Amino acid sequence: MDSLVLCLFVILLVASAGDTSAAEDVPWSQNYVILYGQEHIQLLNQEKECQISIDQISGSGFRSLKTFNSGFFGIRMKLPNKDTTGIITTFYLRSHTENHDELDFEFLGTNETQPYLLHTNVFTNGKGDREERIALWFDPTEDFHDYQLLWNQHQVVWFVDGTPIRVFKNNANIGVGYPVQAMQIEATIWSGSWAGEPNWSQAPFQAHYQRFEIDGCSAQNNTIASSECNSPTFSWNGEKYWNLDSQQQRAYGNVRQKYLVYDYCSVGSKPPPECQNNQLNYP
Ligand SMILES: *[C@@H]1O[C@H](CO)[C@@H](O)[C@H](O)[C@H]1NC(C)=O
Ligand SMILES: *[C@@H]1O[C@H](CO)[C@@H](O)[C@H](O)[C@H]1NC(C)=O
Ligand SMILES: *[C@@H]1O[C@H](CO)[C@@H](O)[C@H](O)[C@H]1NC(C)=O
Repeated sequence: MDSLVLCLFVILLVASAGDTSAAEDVPWSQNYVILYGQEHIQLLNQEKECQISIDQISGSGFRSLKTFNSGFFGIRMKLPNKDTTGIITTFYLRSHTENHDELDFEFLGTNETQPYLLHTNVFTNGKGDREERIALWFDPTEDFHDYQLLWNQHQVVWFVDGTPIRVFKNNANIGVGYPVQAMQIEATIWSGSWAGEPNWSQAPFQAHYQRFEIDGCSAQNNTIASSECNSPTFSWNGEKYWNLDSQQQRAYGNVRQKYLVYDYCSVGSKPPPECQNNQLNYP
């Protein structure tokens, strides 16, 4: 009996996890709760869509109910279509620990002279300073697009509409920090003075999110051992996800050549050790 149930469970797990690009439609509240700015959050279309907004009084954000130890996390987003100088719209994973791990998608505001820039970063054990920026090849305010983070023991990959735009390999063997702490998903809209002064007369600025299914492994509250989250029964831990395949490498090379506008690896006289490794694999 037990082994039959386990077997069915594994089959279901593999079947559902294998198809991460499918637009799964679960209500927001099944997986998410308000992080802050309750008055500025609206659930639409039977919770298939969530609108978060910011004005001069408050920003807002939501977070996953659970923390995760591995996964292939995705969401669909449509950015505010105004002069969003100084407004930052995000989707990221982070641990709530003193020396935290974090993997970021951050969209820096746009105006007539400055198109939207997608800023990515990695924190490990509290250390960040690994910024990259790309100029998007489409207008992210016109429609919803897919943004995904793959996180397993081998690599972290940021995807935009299925195209890899950044890779952070596990280089722990050469002393580079790698995210290992349980993280939750968060999505926020906020203003950072470092990003410019917002034109508040255009507020509220509204971002829209869809697809609230979560393809992740949670070992929260010892439901399973956290090491179980590295098991290949989860599709995103399988060998296929240890490296980019040749088609993905070509697409990735193309993005870096055409759209990369800032890379922490190219600044300063002595780039951190992971830079060389990441670039060797993906010229
Ligand atoms: C447009 O954005 C850039 C970058 O944030 C900023 O330096 C510039 O002042 C902005 N222009 C206007 C007209 O707000
Ligand atoms: C702010 O937005 C208002 C309304 O669209 C516009 O009239 C004004 O010129 C903007 N201010 C700046 C500094 O861009
Ligand atoms: C984990 O336990 C805490 C209290 O110990 C509880 O508040 C929380 O809901 C639990 N989380 C899950 C995902 O079961």
